[in-house]
Amino acid sequence: NYYAVLMAGGVGSRFWPVSTTQFPKQFHDMLGTGETLIQKTYSRLTKLIPQENILVLTNEIYNDIVLEQLPELTPDQIVLEPAMRNTAPCILYATLKIKKLNPDALMVVAPTDHWIEDEDAFLQNLQSAFDCAGKEEVLMTLGIKPTFPNTGYGYIEYDFKTDRQIKKVEQFREKPDYATAKSFLAQGNFLWNAGIFIWGVKAVTNAFLEFQPDMYELFMAGYESYNTSGEKEFIGANYIKSNNISIDYAVMEKASNVYVLPADFDWNDLGTWGSLHDKLDKDENNNAVVNARVFIENATNNIIRTDKGKTVIVDGLNNYIVVDKEDILLIYPKEKEHEIKKITEIVTSAAKKV
Ligand code: GDD
Ligand code: MG
Repeated sequence: NYYAVLMAGGVGSRFWPVSTTQFPKQFHDMLGTGETLIQKTYSRLTKLIPQENILVLTNEIYNDIVLEQLPELTPDQIVLEPAMRNTAPCILYATLKIKKLNPDALMVVAPTDHWIEDEDAFLQNLQSAFDCAGKEEVLMTLGIKPTFPNTGYGYIEYDFKTDRQIKKVEQFREKPDYATAKSFLAQGNFLWNAGIFIWGVKAVTNAFLEFQPDMYELFMAGYESYNTSGEKEFIGANYIKSNNISIDYAVMEKASNVYVLPADFDWNDLGTWGSLHDKLDKDENNNAVVNARVFIENATNNIIRTDKGKTVIVDGLNNYIVVDKEDILLIYPKEKEHEIKKITEIVTSAAKKV
């Protein structure tokens, strides 16, 4: 009774111009491995979860991309959201659909835009988490050892007195400010939330009932229709009414039955060009190249990517992101990568006005 919910409805705006609202990061082969991030996530999970028990939740505008990239899915395994409302409603909706099929189901909720190195270690951790979630009504997450005060992650304070593998969570704090993140790191008993959750459908529906009663009521009103021909109509009319909130704020920060399993695998959320640069193979001058034929001299620490294997000649360039995609060419200093999101908004809204 293992199920998986793959969340593939985010827009990944920091990877512009490769990742766009029309074609976000999870559907790209960001690492140049020959597989897209969602394909990698899917094949990793099929090692433990029966293929037919995997649901992909995404916005309806990505339906065709999912169908093309995961052709083994049947149409009812692709669950479409008519509006972008972040991860809490997406998870509640998927959970209720699964609950109706199997009230004793255990499920893993996974992002589709991450990089995980050691697949065997990941699967072992996932199995341990399932074992725990099968015994008690708990909300489990996988924790990553933090390396710097990244403000884009959730932080998990755990009870360091337990020497058991799975630890009780004292506090879950989503995206703290920099000073808080720094103090968390200094304390030592904090982990990053990997964004991968494991729980029984009962545990998570009870958590929604307690902490998001309006959302619970909204989605329960359609319960009869789920997995039947009436579902599309109900969701089409009601999904948009949901609060726009992530599972981290909606449930994880509030619940007291949260547990964490410190991960034994290497993880990277591939959140920015810089984190992608970390993961890619580099030449002796620390330049990473994807889909390009390069002639590089006097250049260090750049990331260079084209979409069609273009020839790129670089001389005298250091610490830059160079991304060529159709009609856009981005040449941007790596240390300013956090501003790409803002630039994207300016450029795309200017394009709309023309
Ligand atoms: N179906 C669906 N619908 N998927 C969504 C939606 C939505 O409305 N919004 C986001 N997603 C998907 C994204 O595509 C991604 O795979 C996953 O849900 C997580 O969303 P992000 O938007 O990337 O979340 P985040 O990175 O800000 O934060 C989360 O992940 C961090 C680790 O990378 C949190 O769980 C943090 O606590 C965590 O540290
Ligand atoms: Mg993310």
